[in-house]
Amino acid sequence: MTRVAITGGAGFLGSHLCERLLADGVEVVCVDNFVTGRPENVEHLLASPRFRLVNRDVTEYLHVPGPVDAVLHFASPASPVDYYRLPVETLLVGSAGTHNALGLARAKGARFLLASTSEAYGDPKVHPQPESYWGNVNPVGPRSMYDEAKRYAEALTMAYRNSRGVDTGIVRIFNTYGPRMRADDGRAIPTFISQALRGEGITVAGDGSQTRSVCYVDDLIEGIVRLLWSDLPGPVNIGNPHELSILDTARLVRRLCGSDAPITFIPRPVDDPTVRQPDITLAHQRLGWTPKVAVDDGLARTIEWFSDQSVGAGQRRAA
Ligand SMILES: NC(=O)c1ccc[n+]([C@@H]2O[C@H](COP(=O)([O-])OP(=O)(O)OC[C@H]3O[C@@H](n4cnc5c(N)ncnc54)[C@H](O)[C@@H]3O)[C@@H](O)[C@H]2O)c1
Repeated sequence: MTRVAITGGAGFLGSHLCERLLADGVEVVCVDNFVTGRPENVEHLLASPRFRLVNRDVTEYLHVPGPVDAVLHFASPASPVDYYRLPVETLLVGSAGTHNALGLARAKGARFLLASTSEAYGDPKVHPQPESYWGNVNPVGPRSMYDEAKRYAEALTMAYRNSRGVDTGIVRIFNTYGPRMRADDGRAIPTFISQALRGEGITVAGDGSQTRSVCYVDDLIEGIVRLLWSDLPGPVNIGNPHELSILDTARLVRRLCGSDAPITFIPRPVDDPTVRQPDITLAHQRLGWTPKVAVDDGLARTIEWFSDQSVGAGQRRAA
């Protein structure tokens, strides 16, 4: 049976990956220290005899007994709120954590897949961003702990590939949304949804004209699984090229939530990228992958999950 180890498996994306790989018949070892993830994200998987949850900080020693066919390194604070709060931890999980995860892959003769990010392009001067673009990153700016951790992790991955013979892949993930995002993680979509569901005003950063291209989680996971079982080294962009301004996203969330709450404007964070859109030609040509879920549909599914959570929380309080 195929067996994989997923670091950061109890996070937003990691938990969807664990779920998907289990559904594909794979045995999954999920390693997480819950610094930004939650055991509840994978609680429903614990009943499976093919699932194991290990509480461990991957910046320390990382060992998984038995055979491992692939190591997916997803551990890292990922939202600005989290990496501002955990700057050193973010750099360490990108450096020491990646080193340990690569070491595990090397010891087991496993394929290694690094979860990198569109933040590797920084505030891009090329639009949309192909993998060949080297980026425009401020190495001492407020987001540098995340951007540079991921750029270093990519370099380390290439060094293991070229000098240690590890079969590696790098995915550059663009903004993704869906169930199991945290309402308080500071990213635009969960913030807008929770504000709209609570009937509060929706806060848009700047004038809202900055754009994002958002991908529904099921589409992203499909792309990642295809890359995992390919022999492509990457980097490969996975994301949805459909571009939407932050203001239009806020309006769409408000409509789908049936809310008439006002939209208010707050200061824009320093070094917030102005545009962001993946060029997904490579993923399309080499993996036969394109995103399928339209933004209205993905947002509706996400809103449904968030409202189930708040109904559940209300019932728990009332009990
Ligand atoms: N969600 C996105 O839109 C997005 C975009 C680009 C890249 N990514 C990358 O994908 C990965 C997952 O992101 P996410 O959105 O699911 O974030 P998340 O915060 O929900 O998940 C990250 C997980 O890693 C765990 N973790 C962090 N440091 C750890 C450590 N030292 N040891 C063990 N576990 C640790 C956290 O507890 C959490 O469960 C990250 O590497 C992130 O950089 C995500």
